[in-house]
Amino acid sequence: MSSDLYLLIRHARILSPTGEFSVGDVLCRGREIVQVAPELSAETDKEIDATGLTLLPGVIDPQVHFREPGLEYKEDLFTASCACAKGGVTSFLEMPNTRPLTTTQAALDDKLRRAADKCLVNYGFFIGATAENLPDLRDAQPTCGIKIFMGSMHGPLLVDIEERLDPIFAEGSRLIAVHAEDQTRIMARRQEFAGISDPAIHSQIQDNQAALNATQLALKLSKKYQRRLHILHLSTAEEAELLRQDKPSWVTAEVTPQHLLLNTSAYEKIGTLAQMNPPLRSPHDNEVLWQALLDGVIDFIATDHAPHTLEEKAQPYPNSPSGMPGVETSLPLMLTQAVQGRCSVAQVSNWMSTAVAKAYQIPKKGAIAPGYDADLVLVDLDNYHPVRREELLTKCGWSPFEGWNLTGWPLYTIVGGQVVFERGQLHTDVRGEALRFGG
Ligand code: DOR
Repeated sequence: MSSDLYLLIRHARILSPTGEFSVGDVLCRGREIVQVAPELSAETDKEIDATGLTLLPGVIDPQVHFREPGLEYKEDLFTASCACAKGGVTSFLEMPNTRPLTTTQAALDDKLRRAADKCLVNYGFFIGATAENLPDLRDAQPTCGIKIFMGSMHGPLLVDIEERLDPIFAEGSRLIAVHAEDQTRIMARRQEFAGISDPAIHSQIQDNQAALNATQLALKLSKKYQRRLHILHLSTAEEAELLRQDKPSWVTAEVTPQHLLLNTSAYEKIGTLAQMNPPLRSPHDNEVLWQALLDGVIDFIATDHAPHTLEEKAQPYPNSPSGMPGVETSLPLMLTQAVQGRCSVAQVSNWMSTAVAKAYQIPKKGAIAPGYDADLVLVDLDNYHPVRREELLTKCGWSPFEGWNLTGWPLYTIVGGQVVFERGQLHTDVRGEALRFGG
């Protein structure tokens, strides 16, 4: 597409970089925002009348599993990015547990090529740590960071003992993101609870202590080398309290909407659809995680979108796989919380865009201001609509939040100045770009 198309968004309630709202117009030229003002007039290629709608920076989802290559029967980069567009997610950071695993430059290049071909939104990829790929972890480009699975099995991606972890923290300086669960403890507890097919046992097997042990170890190594550390999907009160006491300035943490809004009572209602790693916790954990997010102990939100088919999920525990989809529902879930008074809309936007851009050093993202990329979402905060299975775009075709009545659904999603989702319709010809990191 030509780089000098003009898009004018009129009469929107615009979130400013300082967190205030004012009604006005936004002019985009090519991929960039060029002007924000109370009233603009310009020759444009497209105009959106945004009267009554709220304009936010597009969501950057910093933890997703999109299954391509190798597991496309669950999801692929096209279907996942359609779901992103519908959910207001204009950029994503994707995890390396695809087939082959993303542990080399060649595997990373392959993902980038596939994404350039198919993705409606912007994309970045993690490189996965094994016990043997230190040079790849140091040199691979472009990548948002190194992913270490300290727990949860994905073949060679499991790096769980200190002697193997230490050299990864020692070498290089790029961000290390950890899935922090203590695999040794989990294996022992799996034996202990063997034979139980109630999926609620999942939260006891992979208990709070398993998460805390691994987070403590990651923090210890990060402090030893002052190494940039990000703790993925923090799930327990104990980890939140640990970080509240002792969080070095180079450490960040995220939480998922499901760890804030669902707890172990979900197993009764939706069975194995509630099964994920790290598992859902107690209502007390929900409360402590919320407070940690509000207080800035937890920095931002990720979905951990991890789709599995309904057939796979129908297998009895423990054969049912862990993981749930999330990119289509995360923004309305969090905005509903804001409208209902739990936090502010500006906080939600910070947690789902601005703070993520900052932590991953993604230039020109996460704010509505001249010079920033025109990655935007227009949401309707006045009407409610339920999550319906038949309306979902994720290939797996289900959500743990089916039936939840939500507000803040996107009406328009804009990626690089191009409208990719418009009042229920996708523009599947739009393509995102590879994200850049650092600097
Ligand atoms: O529940 C999960 N599922 N947690 C993970 O970390 C991986 C994911 C998957 O890929 O299915």
